[in-house]
Amino acid sequence: MAFQKSPGTQDILPGAVERWQYVEQKARDICRRFNFREIRTPIFEATDLFQRGVGETTDIVEKEMYTFTDRGDRSITLRPEGTAGVVRSFVENKLYGEPDVSKLYYIGPMFRYERQQAGRYRQFHQFGIEALGSVDPAIDAEVIALGYTFYKEVGLKGVRVEINSVGTPAVRAAFREKLLAFLIPMREELCKDCQSRMERNPLRVLDCKTDQARFENAPSILDSLDEECNIHFDKVKTYLSDMGIPFTINPRLVRGLDYYTHTAFEYKAEGIGAIDTIGGGGRYNGLVAEIGGPDQPGVGLGLGLERTIMLLEHQEAELDNAHQVDVYVVALGEAAEREVTRLVYELRTSGIRAERDYLGRKMKAQMKSADRLQARYTAILGDDELARGEIALKEMATGEQRLVALASLASELKTI
Ligand code: HAM
Repeated sequence: MAFQKSPGTQDILPGAVERWQYVEQKARDICRRFNFREIRTPIFEATDLFQRGVGETTDIVEKEMYTFTDRGDRSITLRPEGTAGVVRSFVENKLYGEPDVSKLYYIGPMFRYERQQAGRYRQFHQFGIEALGSVDPAIDAEVIALGYTFYKEVGLKGVRVEINSVGTPAVRAAFREKLLAFLIPMREELCKDCQSRMERNPLRVLDCKTDQARFENAPSILDSLDEECNIHFDKVKTYLSDMGIPFTINPRLVRGLDYYTHTAFEYKAEGIGAIDTIGGGGRYNGLVAEIGGPDQPGVGLGLGLERTIMLLEHQEAELDNAHQVDVYVVALGEAAEREVTRLVYELRTSGIRAERDYLGRKMKAQMKSADRLQARYTAILGDDELARGEIALKEMATGEQRLVALASLASELKTI
């Protein structure tokens, strides 16, 4: 029997991988401009880290983690998200001792045992950023702006930003009581999920799609915020407006991870079946201390790359890296063929993406190959041109053709 990939995983083949490279390149480029530096942490960590970090009562820890015992009898978990590992590394490597705020980013696979549906995988990829060491609401706003700009620069349309404040643990505890007073009388009418969430994490009940209509008169966490929370939230909103980032306030927004304090936000867009959240994040002022570090604040985001790419496809967005090669070199005749091997090597080492035929095909088949690769140019070398030291250069978009000296082809292509 032939093997098949595991459910919820994907092979990313040539043809699709270019979209991944495009999106990853945009992420790296934007991080460079915002001065976030890359951090690479292990794909597996001690299970306790996620239990403590992500939270015992979250869906992730309760039912979605890939956990196993290794040969040394340790409980290991494939990372279900990036924040806990980055914070562990921040503490372990004492990055908090550095004079500046640690602004870090990562791109890589995460693992959650989730029910399969469009946009939901068991191995998926996130682009995430974490800023550790500052309580300044300007960083919350910058993080939100970075995510928004990322979606904009990859070419997605219609991405909405929703923000909320989930307060401090004390604010949340008081709100929890108010909310339970509202929910308990309707307990029997709520769906099974809501009923079990009411016990474990009542704030998440408000997130339920099925029962949304019943929550119209539910108390809002924004009415329970204390002065410190209000000031922080107001500043985040002001900075976002100053930067021209459009957002809406969603007082029901509660994220699926326990570590958030103050700012919580999500990016939403239509086009991936039932799923509309494509990224999210928030502030986590208690997390560093929770996992054994000093009392240091943090804020960050995680954007799903599968969902980004699915939306790009759904919107048929033009990617500016669609051209796979700059030039396809066609040889006609034996002498020309020999020269093409040398010429293609020269082009490639000069920084030009060049391709040629290796199957002894006729000119027409070679031109089709150039089309498939979306070559910007084809360069055609016959024995006659070779004798004159020239090559015919054709721009594929316009069909325009001219002769160029062989010796200057590389420099010519570099300028266009
Ligand atoms: P999260 O909301 O759990 O947050 O995940 C962030 C994004 O990862 C989601 O919005 C979604 O695009 C993608 N994602 C999550 N699960 C799946 C899945 N099963 N299949 C495909 N995509 C998925 C976090 O993970 C936080 N660590 C974000 C953060 C960073 N908060 C602060 N810093």
